Amino acid sequence: MDLSTRYLGLQLSNPLLAGASPMVDDLDWVRRLEDAGVAAIVMHSLFEEQITREQLGTVLDMELHADSFAEALSYFPQPQEFRLGPETYLEQVRRIKAAVKVPVIASLNGTTPAGWLDYAKLIEQAGADALELNVYYLATHPWETGEAVERRTLESVRTVKHEVKIPVAVKLSPFYSSLAHLAKQMDDLGADGLVLFNRFYQPDIDVEALEVVPSLKLSDSSELLLRLRWLAILSGHVKGSLAVSGGVHTPLDAIKAVMAGADAVQLVSALLIHGAGHLKTLRDGIAAWMEEHEYVSLEQMHASMSHQNSPNPQALERANYMRILQGWKP
Ligand SMILES: Cc1cc2nc3c(=O)[nH]c(=O)nc-3n(C[C@H](O)[C@H](O)[C@H](O)COP(=O)(O)O)c2cc1C
Repeated sequence: MDLSTRYLGLQLSNPLLAGASPMVDDLDWVRRLEDAGVAAIVMHSLFEEQITREQLGTVLDMELHADSFAEALSYFPQPQEFRLGPETYLEQVRRIKAAVKVPVIASLNGTTPAGWLDYAKLIEQAGADALELNVYYLATHPWETGEAVERRTLESVRTVKHEVKIPVAVKLSPFYSSLAHLAKQMDDLGADGLVLFNRFYQPDIDVEALEVVPSLKLSDSSELLLRLRWLAILSGHVKGSLAVSGGVHTPLDAIKAVMAGADAVQLVSALLIHGAGHLKTLRDGIAAWMEEHEYVSLEQMHASMSHQNSPNPQALERANYMRILQGWKP
């Protein structure tokens, strides 16, 4: 069974990647992932604030947050709380590259196009095969327009693409008013791939202690549905690759993502829950299902459920929305 795929111009033996997480801070984990057949490894993000704190002694964009700067400073983790500082991050890229043969994708997380993006070049020099730009940003300022947020994000992509020759993927959130338009603009800037989606952490409230409780819950397969929809919409409209991140736990989850248009399937929660060996379970499960359904290659089923086959995706989405609401039987 041919499970090979191309992602960000990299030829991969199968579509299963370890997504960005602290898993790869531990070289034992990295080797276990390779032994279990991972196709490529995404490192956790190096954060803009880590770099700017080191370079400039500042944390946030001063103009945006001038009034509340001192207070804002106190919210951020201290340097010792980050797993890897900027220098150790580069060192970890080198270590992982020396430890395994599979491609290594580093990750930068930030929201402003500024000097910190020089790190993209250093990451490339450290040997990363590609770079994922994770643009996690929650727009909370009532005076900040969606257009301004998008402009900054696009500018970051442009800057990184200018800095490096290695392929660049952008890990997006689903919360844009016109995601298809933004994705197209990223594609036009030369983004080599889009990762759908990063996952916003959602703090809870402890009503007794009157405290906000930060929580990071692992995903389940229900989170995949939002990704499937957007893969299906974007597939065929962007030149770059598409990867899914979020909610892939079973062989069928991965198959659905590929059918919707994913070239690569990133896994974090499933690997944290079941261990690296889960990669083999998934690969075997995908191959068995394909054999049973007479597919000979991943390519054959890739994007078979994408909206590119529909002449009017807008009408299709709206018609399905109305049908599902009208069809509900109490
Ligand atoms: C403990 C943990 C740490 C993570 N760290 C990062 C990170 O540094 N950068 C990033 O882009 N995503 C990070 N993520 C998000 C994952 O890469 C992934 O997008 C998300 O968990 C959804 O995928 P899943 O359903 O396979 O878990 C992290 C997730 C977890 C659970």
